[in-house]
Order: sequence, then C-alpha cells, then structure tokens
Amino acid sequence: MNQSLLLADVTAPEDVTAAGVAAPGRISWTRTPLPASDLATAAQIAERCAQPAFGQVFTEHMVSARWSEDRGWHDARLRPWGPLVLDPATVGLHYGQVVFEGLKAFRQQDGSVAAFRPADHARRMRRSARRLAMPEPPEELFVESVRELLAQDQRWVPQAPTQSLYLRPLLFATDMSLALRPSRSYEFLLLAFVTEAFFGPAAPSVAVWICEQYTRAAPGGTGEAKCAGNYAPGYLAQAEAAEHGCQQVVWLDAAEHRWVEEMGGMNLFFVYGEGAGATLVTPPLTGTLLPGVTRNTLQILAADLGLTIEERRLTVDQWRADAESGAMTEAFACGTAAVVTPVSRAVSAEGSWQIGDGKAGPTTAKLHALLADIQRGRTPDRHGWLDRIPSAAAGSAAGPARTIAP
Ligand code: COI
Repeated sequence: MNQSLLLADVTAPEDVTAAGVAAPGRISWTRTPLPASDLATAAQIAERCAQPAFGQVFTEHMVSARWSEDRGWHDARLRPWGPLVLDPATVGLHYGQVVFEGLKAFRQQDGSVAAFRPADHARRMRRSARRLAMPEPPEELFVESVRELLAQDQRWVPQAPTQSLYLRPLLFATDMSLALRPSRSYEFLLLAFVTEAFFGPAAPSVAVWICEQYTRAAPGGTGEAKCAGNYAPGYLAQAEAAEHGCQQVVWLDAAEHRWVEEMGGMNLFFVYGEGAGATLVTPPLTGTLLPGVTRNTLQILAADLGLTIEERRLTVDQWRADAESGAMTEAFACGTAAVVTPVSRAVSAEGSWQIGDGKAGPTTAKLHALLADIQRGRTPDRHGWLDRIPSAAAGSAAGPARTIAP
C-alpha cells in the first residue's frame, strides 16, 4: 500500500456500501451519513445557531476525497464530521502545501438552499493548487462535494436573514515524508459552519490600519493564491491594528510601501461621487492580490447599476487626500466572509482620516442589498450564480456508491 495513503479516519462508520468501484477516469463516491437517530434535532440546531461565532458552529457531516499519483482523484465520501488522524510527518503541516476556499450557501426565499458561485470558487482553488504544485481538484468534484454536503446538512442552512452557511474546501499534502518536494498524495476536505456577520453583529463599519512594516505579498510570490501561508503572517500586523483601535489591516505593495493592495482576507473598494454618477475603484489584480469572487460579483453588479468601474492603483496619500477633499465618498471591504463591510476610518503612522460617517454610504448599501437579494433568491439571478440544491436531495440514508467524471 502506498504509505502516504494511510490517513486514518477514526470516526467514519464502516462503509455500508461497497467501496465505489469507479470506471477508469471517474471518481467513486460513497455516502455514509450518521444514522437518522444520531442527527441533531431541529431544536438543537436552532440552539447552536443562535449566536454563531465565525468558524465555530460546524454541521454534522463533511466531504473528503484523496489524490495519489497512482490513482489520481478517488474515494470521495460524504461522512460524519470528525477528527483526522495525521502522522506527525504529514508534509502539509511542515511545509505549508495547503490551499483552501471560502464560499457560502443561502436559504432561499422559497425555503430551498443554494450555493453561491461554486464553480468560480472551484476554478480559483484549481489556480491556487497549481501555484503550490498540487493536483487541481476537478471542478466537478468540488461542485459535487458542495451539493452532497448541502443536500445532507441542509437543515443547518439558517433561515435568519443575517446568517448563512460558510463552506470551507481545503486541500492539503498528506505524504508522510519531510523531503522538500511536492507531496505525492493529497486530501481534499469540505467543511461547513453557520455564520453571521464576520466582524460581529454590532459592527456597522470597520476602522483599518495601514500597515507599513510588514508585507503580505510580493511580485512572483503567492499573493494571488488562497494558500494557508498567506494568512498567519498577517496576525502580527493584525495585533498592531488592534493596538491602534482598528479591526483590520490594509496591505501595501512590497516595493514602495505606498500602493494600496487589499486587506487581510478581503478586497477593498473606493467610491467616488454619488448616485448614478458614482465610480467604483478597486486596485487591479497585479498578482499580489487575491482575485475575490465577491470582488468580481460586485464589479458586475455595479456595472448592471450603470456605475463606472475602474481598476487602478491608489496610493495611501491619494486615499487620504481624496477622502479629505470629499472626492472619495465611501470605502468598503468585501469577501465571502466580510460580504460588504464599510470602512469608515483609516489610521496610519502619519495620522488618521475619516471616510463617510461610520455607516454604509448609499452606493455601498445598494450593492450590499443587491448582492444579498440575489444570494437569498429575493431578486432574479440574472448571472446564473446560484447552484440550487433540490430539497428532495436531503436525506440521512447511506446511498449507493456512484461515480462522477473528474
Ligand atoms: C473569506 O472571505 O472567505 C476568507 O477566506 C477570509 C478569511 C475568513 C480567511
């Protein structure tokens, strides 16, 4: 047996189906959900979801799949949530060959459930994987995983209009070898948790710290990949932000430390002017920024509203001058987790400045409302962004092994 495949699972029950025998080039699926008698009751789910802190209220199942050199993608499973047993020499823990995604599913007006732009997140995960010399999870595997998990755990998709289900696909290197080379085996996981506002229910806007000491990404680096290694290096700067009374860090370019790039885990937009004449400005994707799916969504929605869209570089000095002159009327952060969060104040070593009045400006509010209306099925999905899960697909019974094309 390939030693690197020995990633044990201590909680999944024995397969009740025969292990999926897949035709060459196809991925086998096995469904081993919890027995109906072990599932949380509606009252238990409601209690756990009452005030969900970000990333802490997980659903009852997860999806896993494996990749190895000899078998490619195989062994996709819907299984109960549970810990992994990892060998101490699991290479992803040591050298950071780990990429992830973040997308959401929403309760629809008609009571059904839909994931938002799963195929676009799948494509971004493929690009991230490529950058880290990892096998690219097939789009079909990614999308099918989302559908499987949502079908099984759809009772966890909240009804509350401020809540949603956050889906976290993860891909990590599983070789038990500390050789400094790409792993020869990988595990794909899909987890889900119930979420409310990323910055907490009481945060109508955030203040941001312009970080000049540390850098998030440099040309040629991994800034545009959603890899684990892009996040922990921000924690020190995040602590610095908190010391200055800010909730988030704004990252600048690595060479000159004056061009605004993005925030820790979210993109930035600036609004110039007002109403139908407003212009939406965001830094271009130079290779050092994460190409946000929410960023792209808002650009498309702004164009639908007839606003002018500009991708251009902006210095910190210009940001301050434009905010102080009133030319810049609003600023906001966006991302899967942050959704649309107004930025009301910027603080740097040189001073601080105000943007707007601490609440969402009209353009920010309009874009946010339009996005939420589409995500929750309250307004037509003209761009085909919703992937609807048929409610009949919900269930807790083990299903037959089956296959999908990779
Ligand atoms: C997201 O917005 O989904 C992110 O991935 C940011 C952070 C929570 C890691």
